[in-house]
Amino acid sequence: MRPRRFAAAGPLKGRIRVPGDKSISHRSLMLSALAVGESRVTGLLEGEDVLATAAAMRAMGADIQRIGAKDGSGSEWLVHGVGVGALLQPETALDMGNSGTSTRLLMGLVASHPITACFVGDASLSKRPMKRVTDPLSLMGAEFTTSPGERLPLMLRGASPAVPIEYRLPVASAQVKSAVLLAGLNTPGITTVIEPVPTRDHSERMLKGFGAELTVEVDSDGTRTIRIRGEAELQPQRIEVPGDPSSAAFFIVAALIVPGSELVIENVGLNATRAGLIDVLRQMGGDITEQNAREVGGEPVADLLVKHSLLKGIEVDPAVVPSMVDEFPVFFVAAALAEGRTTTTGLDELRVKESDRLAVMATALTAVGARVQESEDGLIIDGTGGEALAGGNKAAIATHLDHRIAMSMAVAGLASKGGVEVDDVRPIATSFPAFEALLDGCTA
Ligand code: S3P
Repeated sequence: MRPRRFAAAGPLKGRIRVPGDKSISHRSLMLSALAVGESRVTGLLEGEDVLATAAAMRAMGADIQRIGAKDGSGSEWLVHGVGVGALLQPETALDMGNSGTSTRLLMGLVASHPITACFVGDASLSKRPMKRVTDPLSLMGAEFTTSPGERLPLMLRGASPAVPIEYRLPVASAQVKSAVLLAGLNTPGITTVIEPVPTRDHSERMLKGFGAELTVEVDSDGTRTIRIRGEAELQPQRIEVPGDPSSAAFFIVAALIVPGSELVIENVGLNATRAGLIDVLRQMGGDITEQNAREVGGEPVADLLVKHSLLKGIEVDPAVVPSMVDEFPVFFVAAALAEGRTTTTGLDELRVKESDRLAVMATALTAVGARVQESEDGLIIDGTGGEALAGGNKAAIATHLDHRIAMSMAVAGLASKGGVEVDDVRPIATSFPAFEALLDGCTA
């Protein structure tokens, strides 16, 4: 464990750049590894989760190399793929570390290949539900031997040929959607996913970009029907990964709640399926301006100018939840500094992330002086009206191997009188290795 205390330090100033988008980084390695020929990826997030995906794709035959600067700036990744249908039998277990996205998406890929793979992960990942993917992938013909409760470690025997299915998502989950679509890549015929509530669409965009035959039909009520034709041939691509809005979120909230802040965050991905936090913070009075709007890697991107603002509590519409699902831990910190009450509902999915983010954030924020009530599917937070939180917690905040809890409570520390001590900052490296250096740099 590596504990650290985050204390109030001046306003956030200057310009920063956040690392590459985690969701897009995973997908860029997976699809490049399935295209025959050389793909090149720049802006890849070099966090532990994405490196777990790279290691797994190598173990199944892809040649993946990092070239260029060691400090992460300007580094490029070269991938020579094996071709759809040609993944090799891995010789050892695939170690997914802390990464749910690696696990669920790779289960989809393996499910329609004639190979058997064992998936293992850390203590956090081993508690997370996998039935949401084993259910549809079993319908496609894959076979599973799971640990009790359909959890990791698990053994997956892929089907060859797999059976195309039409699957209506029972939970709003881009990971489940993507697992089925990726399994569909090597399945004869057409695999269909019906998505009643839209979730991040990076898989659809990138599959099309690599040349897969994929269509999306949107009904009058917003239901999306996604069809992919299997036994696809993917063409190698050059991919530029845009900055991760989920990493930018920590700096957006920090600049809003620390008096005197005026920060530019460059190169932030603003895909509508990911941008819910910005909309909600603006509704609360947050001063966030988009500059230099452009497209990077087929995704909308802008630089964000964020200025300190007195936020006003609101009732968050549960319809926005999928577009900010990973941002709630740090959103709760913003709500704790707002004027009046903020109510959130429809957040059941937060209980099955890297930790139970409702329970863990309720406990953590209460420990540093915020007024928080936990309900079955959300938190109700009565904010301070802009006054710093008490902080000065005696026992370090338990982060439960959850990177976003550690970073959210670091942000809370910046807006506290007595500082906030977290028990372990190591999990931050799963998604944002440069977080502490960037934070220390822009508050100096
Ligand atoms: C992700 C989807 C989300 C998100 C996760 C990344 C993805 O999970 O929480 O961090 O890359 O598809 P769910 O789709 O399970 O909600």
